[in-house]
Amino acid sequence: MKEKLTKIREEAIKRISEIDNLDRLNDIRVAYLGKKGELTALLKSMKDVSAEDRPKVGQMVNETREQIERQLEEAKKRVESAALNERLKRETIDVTLPASAPKMGHRHPNTIALEEVERIFIGLGYEVVSGPEVEKDYYNFEALNIPADHPAKDEQDTFYINGDILLRTQTSSVQIHEMEKGRLPIRMIAPGRVFRSDEVDATHSPCFHQIEGLVIDDQVTFADLKGTLDSFAKQLFGEDTKVKFRPHHFPFTEPSAEMDVSCFKCGGKGCRFCKGSGWIEILGCGMVHPHVLELRGIDPEKYVGFAFGVGLERIALLKYEIDDMRLMYENDDRFLSQF
Ligand code: DAH
Repeated sequence: MKEKLTKIREEAIKRISEIDNLDRLNDIRVAYLGKKGELTALLKSMKDVSAEDRPKVGQMVNETREQIERQLEEAKKRVESAALNERLKRETIDVTLPASAPKMGHRHPNTIALEEVERIFIGLGYEVVSGPEVEKDYYNFEALNIPADHPAKDEQDTFYINGDILLRTQTSSVQIHEMEKGRLPIRMIAPGRVFRSDEVDATHSPCFHQIEGLVIDDQVTFADLKGTLDSFAKQLFGEDTKVKFRPHHFPFTEPSAEMDVSCFKCGGKGCRFCKGSGWIEILGCGMVHPHVLELRGIDPEKYVGFAFGVGLERIALLKYEIDDMRLMYENDDRFLSQF
């Protein structure tokens, strides 16, 4: 019995010392101490030992068991710390390697132009507001003096959600929302997306941006409209910029005009940029139609207003001399990183 135990112990200790992973360690634990292990089998044969030797033998078995357990515990620590060292070696970071520079994003030309326009109008005491892109026919057309059978409705081919709800074709709808708030005077600009079912080409997109402007107060004249837009043009395109107002028609303004700016490329002499005319068309504007005020419950005898609408892309394209609007939406980094 004693020799058997010594043999088991020595063999176990030798095998444990050779262990190099935790699976193997477990195999050995089962092989000696498990239910069907060698030491357990030895315990079962205790019944063959004489009664007087039994306590002594029992104590020897226990001691052997403890020794094997201790060895296993030590082997476990050894294997685990070796694995940890191995991992630390593998995961070292070489802090002397040159870092790869993070690629920084930056503002889109549309955003740069919009912030410029906002800065100018905030400087003139305007508030920047926004309105819904999904709009009722009423706000987009009806309340702007464009009734159901008005030809102006055809000019703005529209995406309808249903007969009454559509994607707004112009930010002019925000004029009505602002009047509805019932706070006067109004001095606001409303930038935002508009939608028209246009084919994509160098100057058209089914989704683009406009900036609407509206002023309503008790003593506003066409001179204020001209002065404001003249100041806007000079701040945006340079002090030498001249403006010119041509009569036009918009259903919600009376009188209405389109404003041109003198070509900032050739100074008005005529060049390829302004197609030889010396002038560049920039926005639509006019005095708010009394009927529009009346519809919103504002007394046109007491209050007067002027409004204007600018295409944001148009401004960005002009300012940065971009000749194809599609570039603005393609997300091509080679284009965008130039701004
Ligand atoms: N909403 C017009 C359009 O999309 C632009 C416009 C013209 C806005 C005259 C105005 C305005 O506020 O007074 O063509």
